[in-house]
Amino acid sequence: MCGIFAYLNYLTPKTRREVLDLLVNGLKRLEYRGYDSTGVAIDSTDGKDIVLIKSSGKVKILEDAISEKFAIDNKIDEPTLIHCGISHTRWATHGVPSEINSHPQRSGSDNAFVVVHNGIITNYKDVKTFLENHGYSFESDTDTEVIAKLVHHIWKAHPKYSFRELVEQVIQQLEGAFALAFKSKHFPGECVASRRGSPLLVGIKTKTRLATDHIPILYGKEHRPHGTNGRDMPVIPRSESTSEFMPVDDKEVEYFFASDASAVIEHTNRVIYLEDDDVAAVNKDGALSIHRLRKCTDDPHAREITTLKMEIQQIMKGNYDYFMQKEIFEQPESVINTMRGRLNFENGTVTLGGIKDYIPEIKRCRRLMLIGCGTSYHSAVATRQLLEELTELPVMVELASDFLDRNTPIFRDDVCFFISQSGETADTLMALRYCKQRGALIVGITNTVGSSICRESHCGVHINAGPEIGVASTKAYTSQFISLVMFGLVMSEDRISLQQRRQEIINGLKNLDKQIRKVLELDNKVLELANDLYQHKSLLIMGRGYNFATCLEGALKVKELTYMHSEGIMAGELKHGPLALVDHSMPVLMIILRDPVYAKCMNALQQVTAREGRPIIICEEGDEDTKSYSSRALEIPKTVDCLQGVLTVIPMQLLSYHIAVLRGCDVDCPRNLAKSVTVE
Ligand code: M6R
Repeated sequence: MCGIFAYLNYLTPKTRREVLDLLVNGLKRLEYRGYDSTGVAIDSTDGKDIVLIKSSGKVKILEDAISEKFAIDNKIDEPTLIHCGISHTRWATHGVPSEINSHPQRSGSDNAFVVVHNGIITNYKDVKTFLENHGYSFESDTDTEVIAKLVHHIWKAHPKYSFRELVEQVIQQLEGAFALAFKSKHFPGECVASRRGSPLLVGIKTKTRLATDHIPILYGKEHRPHGTNGRDMPVIPRSESTSEFMPVDDKEVEYFFASDASAVIEHTNRVIYLEDDDVAAVNKDGALSIHRLRKCTDDPHAREITTLKMEIQQIMKGNYDYFMQKEIFEQPESVINTMRGRLNFENGTVTLGGIKDYIPEIKRCRRLMLIGCGTSYHSAVATRQLLEELTELPVMVELASDFLDRNTPIFRDDVCFFISQSGETADTLMALRYCKQRGALIVGITNTVGSSICRESHCGVHINAGPEIGVASTKAYTSQFISLVMFGLVMSEDRISLQQRRQEIINGLKNLDKQIRKVLELDNKVLELANDLYQHKSLLIMGRGYNFATCLEGALKVKELTYMHSEGIMAGELKHGPLALVDHSMPVLMIILRDPVYAKCMNALQQVTAREGRPIIICEEGDEDTKSYSSRALEIPKTVDCLQGVLTVIPMQLLSYHIAVLRGCDVDCPRNLAKSVTVE
């Protein structure tokens, strides 16, 4: 959701054209996060001003606008030694997608200060009123514009402040969530960035090895009382700025500020993940420093420079038409990666290094709570029954948003799992903080190393599915599923009565990649079904037991990708309402496998066919009896009941993908949706 990409070259000559290419390329890497408009800010070719180029729509439109802008400006190919450019993909929250509402937002018509922002400023109306009373007029409908004007206002009052100090003043006045990157014509070649609640990292590229793997954090020294409740600007503490970071042997350095690692990995694998309220500043000498206004007791002295393990190929489409398609077909490998080094098929042991030390505490807990949103929530639904069986503990599954709405009671002896592909979903993160405050043990299940959920959890499991770029979650779901199954296996390791069950699950996991490959071979058959279905208005997906989660997840995929109505229906609930929807024309898909609820599913099938329903059936390979109820069936390999959901969800992923393509929808970036939902 929104994307920031800023680039600063210090003593590393680049032409404006090269800088613009870098910025646009960075935005392309962030496209998957979801956006509806774009913009860049660079120095004008005479170096005196800042040029803003913005447009609504895709990055391609911005690219065309940039070409047009510089069509006859030859100076665009002259190198500059030091330069800072910022860019943004915007996902509209305040004000429609339009050029004027796109970021960068500016302090005034002279573009003295410009800013890009992810998140929402909740007190922007108060700040706006304050600024209007001081003579500022506003051109956009965004909350972000107040930030650009506020920094200008403070600069007028404190012309001696450094750029970083100005930004420190600004963020003190802001409420809500943000990641910000600033540029100013009063501070050429400098960039200041900060975050609170929205992810932001700094990539560092140098020719020689860095002197250190840690950037010291500089804390504010003095603390003077605030001013006048938003009517006047408070004076805030200023921080020391002596021991700033510099690269080792030479001063040539490039910095990248980005919302996530996929935008920087092709330039550098050395990054610093900023924490809430960090202010990262590159000054006129090319030095990066990280500041915080006040030090709390357990605050660290430095931020670590992390080496990314990601490879550039992982974020490219390769031979596939869409990222989603690639990610569906990656599942035989991604499930293996989730189990790699953790599950020993020889001796049946499972080691989850990230939670190993906490297992005794988890075993003593009162209940397990699995909390997430969307697909991540479905992975909790999918594994709840098995976790109840293997842990012999009560397991609650919760949608993060609803969990917070209810002020759910949480106790010190609860263990709360937060499941999130991105690790940045605002509702999930809020729920995490809520539970942490109440003393529960926090376990993160994420796919994104360094994400907020990852960092704020006491312990956790990385699902290791690899970068997921398509907005629709696919391989992350199957890897979350398997991570939770492995957790169940760890918890039941010393239960004699569960050994046989554990062994059949481990055998099932061992064959899973081959079985996923077999399911993927159904692709052409699924395409035929998609051809039958894509002009319909609705699709009902029915199942129960271990496959109910597939119904919910399948319906979510259909909705988000194809914009068709779809509903996942618990087959046991048919007679309580949904059966009224069934007639000869209503598309119905039923999942009926030979598991403990087979007879009940067959009962549901008969109810549907008795109302002239003509369901498509997903059944087990060779189950001729079940197949005979329909002319359209997809057969999937047999596995242990609790792992069926990993296999049954794949035809649903493929079906929604093909229907989306046939309906001409944007598969990787469905309308109105974002990959990482960083606002509530
Ligand atoms: O990053 P998260 O797993 O926390 O995201 C949660 C949901 O926003 C996400 O799963 C969403 O439902 C997917 N787009 C569905 O495909």
